[in-house]
Amino acid sequence: MTSTEQGRRKYDELAERYEEIFPYVADVGQLLVDYARPERGSRVLDVGAGRGAVARAALAIGCQVTAIDASKGMVDRLAADFPEIDARQMDAGALDFPDGSFDLVAAGFVIQVLPDADVALAEFRRVLAPGGMLALSLEKQTVGRLRWLFELAGEFFGAPVPSDDSPGGMTSDQLNALIESAGFIDIATDSVEMPVPMEDPAALWDWLTPRGLTDAVAALPEDKAEQFRLRFIAGAEHMQANGGISLDFKATLHRAGTR
Ligand SMILES: C[S@@+](CC[C@H](N)C(=O)[O-])C[C@H]1O[C@@H](n2cnc3c(N)ncnc32)[C@H](O)[C@@H]1O
Repeated sequence: MTSTEQGRRKYDELAERYEEIFPYVADVGQLLVDYARPERGSRVLDVGAGRGAVARAALAIGCQVTAIDASKGMVDRLAADFPEIDARQMDAGALDFPDGSFDLVAAGFVIQVLPDADVALAEFRRVLAPGGMLALSLEKQTVGRLRWLFELAGEFFGAPVPSDDSPGGMTSDQLNALIESAGFIDIATDSVEMPVPMEDPAALWDWLTPRGLTDAVAALPEDKAEQFRLRFIAGAEHMQANGGISLDFKATLHRAGTR
C-alpha cells in the first residue's frame, strides 16, 4: 500500500468522528477564514476539507465553496451535511480545475500531511486568480506539560522524545519558505492557542485512544502493559493535582497573495 493510500484509509476510518476527536479544528477553521477575510460571493476552494471546518465558515459568510479531499469517507459526509458545497474527491497535488478558478484557496491542517507540499502549493497558486489569496493553518507541535507522557512513550515504545526547541513536524518558518518558493507574495503569519482541558486521567486515556495509544499498549506483553497503565495513571494524576490536565493545542495561520 502506498503512503497516499494509507493516508486515505486512515482518514476514511476517522471521517465519522473526526471533529469529535479533534474538537479544536472547527474554531481554527473559523479563525482561518476570519484571517483571510474573503468577500461575500468569493470563489473559495477548501483543500483537504475533512468535515468542513474551513468550508462551512466560508459558506456562512456567503462564499461560493468548493471542497476537495482525498478521502471518500470525508467527501461523502461533507456532501451529505452541506449540499450547498461542491464536494469532490481529489488529490491536493493534482487539482482538476482550470487556472485562475478561485479567489481563495484555504487548507486547514493539511499541508503537513501531504507527501509533496511543494507540488500542492504550486497547484494552489495555479488555480488562484490574480490577486487571489492563500490561507493555511499548521499545527504547532508542543511538548510543554505533557513531557512526562512523551518520556513514558519513549521508554515503552521507543518513540523519540521531542524537545521544546525542536518539537518535530514542519515549522511555521519552513512553511513560509515553501510558500515563498511557490511564488506567493505578502506572506503573513499569526498564532493561535486552544487549551483542551481534560476532566481526569480516564479522559486523557480516551483522548489518546484514537491516536493509537490503546492499540500500542495492547501490543505490549501483559506485564509491561500493566506497568504502562499504572505509570500513565500516576503521571496523569500528578498533572491533575498540579494545575490540571490540559492539552495546550497551538497552531499558526498563514496568509499570502498572488500577483
Ligand atoms: C488533518 S485533516 C484536516 C481536515 C480539515 N481541513 C480541518 O481543518 O478539520 C487532513 C485532511 O486532509 C485530507 N488529505 C490528506 N491527504 C490529502 C491529499 N493528498 N489530497 C487531498 N486531501 C488530502 C485528509 O483526508 C483529511 O481530511
